[in-house]
Amino acid sequence: QEGDVAAGEIVFKKCGVCHNVDSDKAKVGPSLQGVIGRQPGTKEGFKYSKAMTDFGAGKTWDEALLTTYLADPRGVVKGTKMAFAGLKDPKDIANVIAYVKTFSTA
Ligand code: HEM
Repeated sequence: QEGDVAAGEIVFKKCGVCHNVDSDKAKVGPSLQGVIGRQPGTKEGFKYSKAMTDFGAGKTWDEALLTTYLADPRGVVKGTKMAFAGLKDPKDIANVIAYVKTFSTA
């Protein structure tokens, strides 16, 4: 189902500790501006874990892949340095993706 952008902006507060989405600047994590449509682990200038760059081979961040990842980041990308347990509520995941999507053209 389609996520709710306004609700997703509130969920994003959990992510915003480590990620910008409204600017290109990295924090502890890479900027998520334009992340949808991008290959995982390829934001220029950001030093990813090998786990993330290996995971990214042949993949593109789309809604389906983000949904899987955000439910269990460290289970899906074993060895990732994203120190976040994930989002339990599928609605939160759909909503945060809808919000992040407003900063992507893909
Ligand atoms: C990586 C999303 C929370 C730190 C990523 C990536 C996505 C993402 C999509 C891959 C980016 C890419 O391939 O360019 C999110 C969302 C969050 C969240 C939506 C909230 C629901 C956090 C938090 C932290 C964090 C709280 C810090 C404690 C990182 C780091 C990476 C990363 C360090 C790089 C991982 C690696 O190289 O293994 N995040 N994130 N993230 N995130 Fe998050």
